[in-house]
This record gives sequence, structure tokens and C-alpha cells, in this order.
Amino acid sequence: MDFESTGRVWDGVYHYPHLFGGIMLTCALLGFSTSYFGIQSLPYFLPDLRIFHKKYYEKKRIRVYMDGCFDLMHYGHANALRQAKALGDELVVGVVSDEEIVANKGPPVLSMQERLTLVSGLKWVDEVIANAPYEITEEFMHRLFNEHNIDYIIHGDDPCLLPDGTDAYALAKKAGRYKQIKRTEGVSSTDIVGRILSTDKDIKVNKEFSESPCSGKSENLNDSQSTGSLAKGGHVSHFLPTSRRIVQFSNGKGPGPNARVVYIDGAFDLFHAGHVEILKSARQLGDFLLVGIYADHTVSELRGTQFPLMNLLERSLSVLACRYVDEVIIGAPWEVNKDVIATFNISLVVHGTTSESSSLLNGTSDPYAVPKNMGIFRMIESPKDITTSSVARRIIANHKIYKKRNAKKEASEKKYYAEKKYVNGD
Ligand SMILES: *[C@@H]1O[C@H](CO)[C@@H](O)[C@H](O)[C@H]1NC(C)=O
Ligand SMILES: *[C@@H]1O[C@H](CO)[C@@H](O)[C@H](O)[C@H]1NC(C)=O
Ligand SMILES: *[C@@H]1O[C@H](CO)[C@@H](O)[C@H](O)[C@H]1NC(C)=O
Repeated sequence: MDFESTGRVWDGVYHYPHLFGGIMLTCALLGFSTSYFGIQSLPYFLPDLRIFHKKYYEKKRIRVYMDGCFDLMHYGHANALRQAKALGDELVVGVVSDEEIVANKGPPVLSMQERLTLVSGLKWVDEVIANAPYEITEEFMHRLFNEHNIDYIIHGDDPCLLPDGTDAYALAKKAGRYKQIKRTEGVSSTDIVGRILSTDKDIKVNKEFSESPCSGKSENLNDSQSTGSLAKGGHVSHFLPTSRRIVQFSNGKGPGPNARVVYIDGAFDLFHAGHVEILKSARQLGDFLLVGIYADHTVSELRGTQFPLMNLLERSLSVLACRYVDEVIIGAPWEVNKDVIATFNISLVVHGTTSESSSLLNGTSDPYAVPKNMGIFRMIESPKDITTSSVARRIIANHKIYKKRNAKKEASEKKYYAEKKYVNGD
């Protein structure tokens, strides 16, 4: 780890003395207590908890800033923000404006509002700044320091060059107010767009999508299907799920005594603003939100073999990163049966009104028959009319632009993976 000031991480902990036990447990479980935080004498901290309370009142809270487009947000973004948060006490996130994304990269898939909803829904984010500039100008940097009281600007370890070839963060570095985090391995928006585009052919065939704007086009995407046919949709995933990542994303707490447990299930494929909104509504109905995430084969049966776009573990991480979620079932049963309800002491089962068509499973019985009979089922209004397929359709509708953009990026990512070496995985 190349953080110059690892002690800062502990400053974050001082402010949450009540969380300390949980954090210690996580550290111990992961076995990274000493190497990760760079503190060798951890046990000495334990007996005297008063120092934490003292620090609590004395220390200024460290505010860190990180920005991004967060278009097609995935758990890689979430992980970057998790790491950024660990470098301070309060994380402020700048979300780049639609206009700036259009100017620099081409049209975004998600609107500013959707991207804001997604970013604000992450459990590590304390504040968001809408319409941030694509590049940190000197003027914006001073605004961050003076108006938003930012102590450090955080960026990933990929070089970020301005059009004139200079380092976009040179100023912040010179001021000693720059910190770096590691790129999250195994996922990128480029990769996800690739997966969506490579399902295009199948989607056109699927009658569920027969009204999609691209259905009349005869152009096909043979090339992406024929290269590397190893994984789903001809797309090679670099995702390497580890138990450690799941622990990092988890709250690590069960429901408290007398907690009212609310259950919601679904595919949660291509995690989007509609998911955030429905999870928020569901959480408000109780004290603990348990989310059942369907296994990959269940999603395929439900929506066709080209789905899910994101596999079970990827979908689980995206859901876990959401601040309204307390716990997930990784591979939930299609039917909410008595066993699930009893095991988790579920008081209420909810289901959103806007969900993907499940015509493929029409013949089978109602998955909510049991909670309905028990009188603990409720439909809740989905606040946004946005679904995984509607997001996928936007990409496919603009597939010429995205394909071109993606081809360029895929080449550089291929190079990255060809040359990559050991990554100290945090
Ligand atoms: C797509 O691939 C099929 C066989 O794999 C081939 O017959 C067809 O001509 C290809 N189409 C285009 C447009 O390349
Ligand atoms: C089960 O949930 C109910 C709330 O619906 C709560 O009152 C009860 O204490 C819970 N049972 C246990 C064993 O936690
Ligand atoms: C599936 O069921 C819904 C209502 O339960 C109905 O509206 C729809 O037409 C059915 N689809 C098929 C393909 O049978």
C-alpha cells in the first residue's frame, strides 16, 4: 500500500467508538489488521478505549473528495468509493455532468438524476456534488478546498492526463492534498457495455424485446460473438470474486432484538436507480432489509439465456453496496417458502410494481403464494419506471457509438490484462 499516511485510516475509526468492535472483528477475520493499516501494535490500543473518546472530541473530521462519471455504475465504482472513504471520515463524491460526459466520452447511458441516485445510495457516500467538471481545474480545486472543506482529493492509480498531456492532479499533489487508491480488478463499464452488446443478437430474437428500437436493424455483432467465446455471451469476465471482498461490502450485523425484517427478492441485474429507490421504500417498512438475489439459472429461466448480464456474485456486491440493504441471500429461491420466512424471521415480503416481465415462468405457481396466505405480502409502488432491459436497450439503441467507444477501450484493457502482474488486492 502506498498511502503515505495510513494513520488517517484510524482517525476514521476514532469517530465511531461504537463501531470499533465490529471493525476489529472484521480486521481479525481478514487477518489484515497489522499489514493493512500499517499499525504494528494493535493490541495496545485495545485496553484503553478512553483515548478513542478523547480523539473523538479533539479531531477535525477529514473530508475526502473523489469524482467520476459513474455511468453504468458497478461494484468496481462502489469499491473505489469504499477505499476512498477509508482515507477520511466523510466522503464527498462529485458526479460529472451530462454535458461534460458528452463532450469527453460521448453520450452517457444514465442521466444525471439516475447517476446521482445511484451514487447517493452507496453506503460509503456522505455527500454528493452534482455536475462536477470532468477535469479538476484549478478553480474547482480551490472551490473544493475552500467551499466544501475538502482535505484530500482521491483518485485511482490509473494516470489521468489532461488534453495537453499534463497530470490532472498535479496541483493537488503539489499541495500535498492528493491520495491514491488502487484500481478495482475485474470489472469496468467497458466490460459491461461489451456484455450488453454481445447479447444484442439474442435480445433481438427474444420476443420480450421485439419493440426495442433496434429490432429492425439488420446489422449484427458477429465479431464480438466469435472472438473469445469462453464466457457468457462470448465475453470473457475478469471478475475474481473473493470472500474478502464480500466481507468488505457487508455490514456484518444481523437484525437486532425485536427487529422487523423485510424481505425483497429479485435478479438485481445491472443495478440501477430503480433498484435503489425500491430498496429504499422497502427498508422504510421495517428495521432490517434482507434481499434475496436469484441464482443465475433462475434469472436465465425467468428472462432468457442471455441473462443475467452480471453474475450472482457481481449482483450481490452491487446490492450489498446499497445503504438501504442490511443483508443479502446469495442465490435466493424463486419461491418465498415457509422455510425462508421462518429462518430469517421475516415479517413482511414486498415486491415492486415495475419488475421485468417474467413470462417465461408463467406456467409455474405464484412465488409469493405462501406470504400472501400468511397475510404478510405487500406490493410496493416502484418509484422509477426503469428496468434492466430498459437500460440495456438504451445502450443497444446507441450501439454504434458505444461499440466504437468500447472497441478503443477494450484494446487498452486487453493490453492491461496481457501485461498485468500481481495486484495486492484491496
Ligand atoms: C455472422 O456469422 C454467421 C456464421 O457464424 C455468418 O453466416 C454470417 O454471414 C455472419 N454475418 C455477418 C454480417 O458477418
Ligand atoms: C421476529 O420478528 C418480530 C417482529 O416482526 C419480533 O417481534 C420478534 O422478536 C422476532 N423474533 C426473534 C426471535 O428475534
Ligand atoms: C403471463 O401472465 C400474465 C399475468 O399473470 C399475463 O398478462 C401474460 O399475458 C402472461 N404471458 C404469457 C406469455 O402467457
